[in-house]
Parts: sequence; structure tokens; C-alpha cells
Amino acid sequence: MTQAKGSHYDARGVPVSSCEPQSLDDYETALLQFHSYFGDPTETLAATLDADPEFVLGHVFFASALMMMTEKQYLPVIRQHIEQAEALAGKANARERLLTLAARQWMEGRWDQASLTWDQVLVEQPLDAMALQLGHLTDFYRGDCFNLRDRLCRVMTSWDKGVTGYSYILGMQAFGFEECNQYDKAELVSRTALDMEARDPWAIHALAHVFEMQGRFDEGKDMYHEREDDWAPDNGFAFHNWWHLALYHIEHEDFDGALGLYDSRILPGGDSDVSLQMVDASALLWRLYLLGVDVGSRWDQIADLWANRTSSENGYYAFNDLHAVIAFVGAGRFEAARDVLAAVEDAAAHNPGVTRMMAQDVGIAACRAMIDFGQQRYREAIDSLLPIRTIAHRFGGSHAQRDILTQTLTESALRGGELKLANNLVSERKLHKTLSPLCQRFAARLSV
Ligand SMILES: [Fe+2]
Repeated sequence: MTQAKGSHYDARGVPVSSCEPQSLDDYETALLQFHSYFGDPTETLAATLDADPEFVLGHVFFASALMMMTEKQYLPVIRQHIEQAEALAGKANARERLLTLAARQWMEGRWDQASLTWDQVLVEQPLDAMALQLGHLTDFYRGDCFNLRDRLCRVMTSWDKGVTGYSYILGMQAFGFEECNQYDKAELVSRTALDMEARDPWAIHALAHVFEMQGRFDEGKDMYHEREDDWAPDNGFAFHNWWHLALYHIEHEDFDGALGLYDSRILPGGDSDVSLQMVDASALLWRLYLLGVDVGSRWDQIADLWANRTSSENGYYAFNDLHAVIAFVGAGRFEAARDVLAAVEDAAAHNPGVTRMMAQDVGIAACRAMIDFGQQRYREAIDSLLPIRTIAHRFGGSHAQRDILTQTLTESALRGGELKLANNLVSERKLHKTLSPLCQRFAARLSV
């Protein structure tokens, strides 16, 4: 039975308009799945919406969760659910109407405006865990490190141990601290979160980033192995945590170890249709490629996966496009790489909203640099990479992910014989990653 708007509240006391009682229970299940990556919230919500098609919050959550996959192919179904939520606006409360607006803004490429709208929701409803996580992930996709931290900080006085899901909120805040280079705080907060809820792959991931940035690779390996049951089995985010573990292996020159994880965990069976997973797989191979490691047929395998995407995906999100280019360059498919670059150039001219800026400011130069590097045009690669190094956060990702640009730049300088530039870059790296064996290997090549 449909009830009057505002007559329900979720587990945190946030008002929910008309819905069946079961729908509210399902919402909590979906939210926990969204926080923990154990289970698929869209699967849960699809069943809920079959039974309760007027569940506004369900429609907007379904659309928003799917948006976070950063794939254009989902836009038709996202649009369908947003339009259904809009059609139910008369039954929705003010929070739900704003959440629907944010989803529409995101769908239309206005990710920056969606971010503001979620904040607007949080001013009135600081315990809206869904708005908080959607905003957090969008901060990540927009490379907005300050908001990754401060969106959480702005609501934190409303949260405490007694509020359902508090540990997950701390896990998000920990990652925000890490991306703002506040490693001590990040470690403290992520450990606090994990003391409360061990099975939080996002909090574990925040800690992994701390270990990566501080060169604490052995601690990172130990942490991942000791806690493996908490983050790996049947977890939708596990591939990315495996990727971080593989980076530690690369630092220790255990390339077989990294490739073993690639084959069994990051891209099991050499197959995936998930862009976020293909991004990690491509990035791992590129790091090995920079080190001259033979990865066998894996380049062809990952290039095939990118080629199998519909071509309309190209230009949708520049961060993904860069990794498609990487895969094509690694496989020696330069024509395909240039096709993606052309799509990014087109996106820089025609995309709606902030995705246009991402393509324009960072995407074009990053993609061009990788193609130039693959064709041994090191000076050209340097020319593309130097101007974007300090603004590359604009197209999203983490510091650890974007390090691929600096590693490529440093390798370009070394291979191109531009040793003074290489020396400068290695000098900078030494200060940031004193304990990094990779950094020491760069330095050793300078003194030969
Ligand atoms: Fe990460």
C-alpha cells in the first residue's frame, strides 16, 4: 500500500517517501551492498522495483549506482529510471527530488553540478549515506581530492558509532585524507573503521594507498594477505585491491608475482566487460611495459576487450579512454589507439558538461603521449606530459593511478637521453617515495 510522503525513515532516520515496507528493507540491503561491494545493489533494487514500481528512492538509487560504472552503454536504462523517478515527483519528498536532479545532472555529463546537488542534500540530511557515497565516488571520478576528504568532514559531526553504517563513512573519509596526502590521519581513520567493520574493502583500500604512497610495500602485502577473507571472496571491488597488491610486487621486481595476480585475480580468464577492471588490467601491463617486461599475449587479450566495447564508449570518460589507448599501444595497434584519441578530441569539442573539460585539459595530451611513447618519439611524449602533470587530477583517478603518467614521463626522459630532466623527476620522486625500489632503479640508471 502506498503511504503518504515522509511517513518512512531509513535506518539512519533519513526521510523516505512512499514505499512498501519491504522496499525500505531492500534499500538498506542495497545500501550495504553499495558500501561494501559485497553483492550487487542494482540486482537487489531491480527486484524491489518489480514489486514496488512507485518506489522513487529505488529508481534513483538504481540509476545512480549504475552511473558509477562510468560506462555509456548503461545510459538508456539509467535514463529510464530517472524518468520514472521524475514522473513520481509528486509523491517524492524534497530529498528524493534533489537526488533525482543530481542523477539527471550526472547522466547529462554535468558531474560537477551533480556533486553540488548531493552536497545540497547533505546540508539538510547529513546522514544520507547514499548521497554521501555517490558524491564521494564522483569526487574520485573528478579527481577532486579536497572534496573527497571534506564532503565527509562536513557531515561528520552528525555521525557517531550509534549510527548505522558509520564505519563505512570513516572508510570514505580515510581515503579522502590519503588523497590529500594526510597519511597519518588516513591510516588512523581507516584502522578505526576496520576495527568496527573488518569487511570494508574501501577502508582496506584506503590503507593500501597509504602503504603505496609511503613505500611500505611489505606492510601492504601482509595487510592484504592477513585480511584476504575480508575483502577478496565474491567482492565487486576485489580486482582493484588485487591491482594494488600487484603494484607492491612490481616494486620488488617480482614481475611473475604481478602477472600471476593479473591472470588469476585482476583479469581472471583474460576476460571482463567492466571498464573499471579493464582500466586496472591495462595500467598494470603498462607499468610492466615501461620496465621492459614481456607480458606475452596479454596485450592482445586486453586490446581485444577494449576493441569489443561499442565504439560509442570512446570519448565518454577520458580516464577510461587513456587506458584503452594504453592497451592498443601495448598491442601495437596504433590505428586503434589513434581512433580513441580522435574520439577524445571530439569529446573535447562536443561533450556535455565536465567530461568535455576532462578530455580537453588532460585526455588529449595523455593519450597522445602514450602513442608517442609507443613509437619511440620520446621528446613528443615529454612535450605532452609535462604540461598536464600538475593538472592531471582533473580527469579523475587516484595519485597512485595517475603515477602512470609520471612514470611514462621519467622513462621518456631516460630513453630519450634527456638526463637532466630525468634527474629532476627522480629527485622529486626520491623525496616523495624514499623507500621505493622503483625509484632507486630509476636513480641507478642515471648514474650509469
Ligand atoms: Fe586505488
